[in-house]
Amino acid sequence: MNLILLGPPGAGKGTQAKRLAERHGWAQLSTGDMLRAAVAAGTEIGVKAKSIMESGNLVPDDILIAMIGERIDRPDSRAGFILDGFPRTAMQAEALDGMLAKRGRRLDRVIEIGVDEAALVERISGRFACVKCGAGYHERYQRPKTEGRCDSCGGTEFSRRADDNAETVKTRLAAYRAQTAPILPYYREKGLLVRVDGMAELDDVTRQIARQLNGEKGGTAGR
Ligand code: AP5
Repeated sequence: MNLILLGPPGAGKGTQAKRLAERHGWAQLSTGDMLRAAVAAGTEIGVKAKSIMESGNLVPDDILIAMIGERIDRPDSRAGFILDGFPRTAMQAEALDGMLAKRGRRLDRVIEIGVDEAALVERISGRFACVKCGAGYHERYQRPKTEGRCDSCGGTEFSRRADDNAETVKTRLAAYRAQTAPILPYYREKGLLVRVDGMAELDDVTRQIARQLNGEKGGTAGR
C-alpha cells in the first residue's frame, strides 16, 4: 500500500508513519529525515537546505522531487511506502503523480491528521529523539519506559531538532497553511483523502488510521 500522511508540523506524521512501517513493513519516506541526514553529512543538498530548514521555510521543490524519485525506486519501497512530509506543494503533488504513473504505481490513500494549531507548539517543544536510533519521544505524551534509556535501542543520549523552537514553528505553520493545506482538495477530488482526529491520544490515532486502511485492504491492516 502506498500512503501519504499529511498534516501540520507536530501533527504526528512521523510517529504514526514509524508505527505503520513497523507493523506492515512499508518504507517510511520522511523528507525531513532525509534532509536532516544531508545536513549532518554536509552534502551539497544539506548545505543548501540547512538555513532554509532553520528558518522554517520550505526547501525548493526540485531538490525534494529528485530525492523522492530516487527513494521510491529502492527495493525497500516496493512492498509499499508511507510518505511523511512529502508532497508539501502543488508542484510536488503533481510531480509525484507523474513519477508513480511512469512506474506503473499509484497512491492508495492520503491521510490527513487533523489537529488544533494551539496544541502544536507544546507538542513540538516537548519532542526529543534518541541520538543512536532516532526513536521519537515527548516529555509529556511519550516518555521512554525507563527514564533516560531509549525503548528501542537502549541508547542514553537524546537530542532536540534545531527547528523546534517557538519562532520557527510559527513560520513552519505559516508554510503549511499557505503551501501545503491547498493540496488537500487535489486529493479529495481524486477520492483518496481521509481525515483522522490527530488530537486523540496517540494509540487512538493509530487505531483510526488502521480502520481507514482496513476499508482499503479488506480488513487486514489493523490486525
Ligand atoms: P519535517 O521533518 O517534515 O517536519 P514537520 O512537517 O514540521 O513535521 P514534524 O516532524 O515537526 O512533525 P510530525 O507531524 O512528524 O510530528 P511527530 O510525529 O514528530 O520537515 C522539517 C523541515 O524540512 C521543513 O520545515 C522544511 O524546511 C523541510 N522539508 C521537509 N520536507 C519538505 C518538502 N517536501 N518540501 C520542502 N521542504 C521540506 O509528533 C510531534 C510530537 O508530538 C512528538 O513528540 C510526539 O511524541 C507527539 N505526538 C504525536 N502525536 C501525538 C498525539 N496524538 N498526542 C500527543 N502527543 C503526540
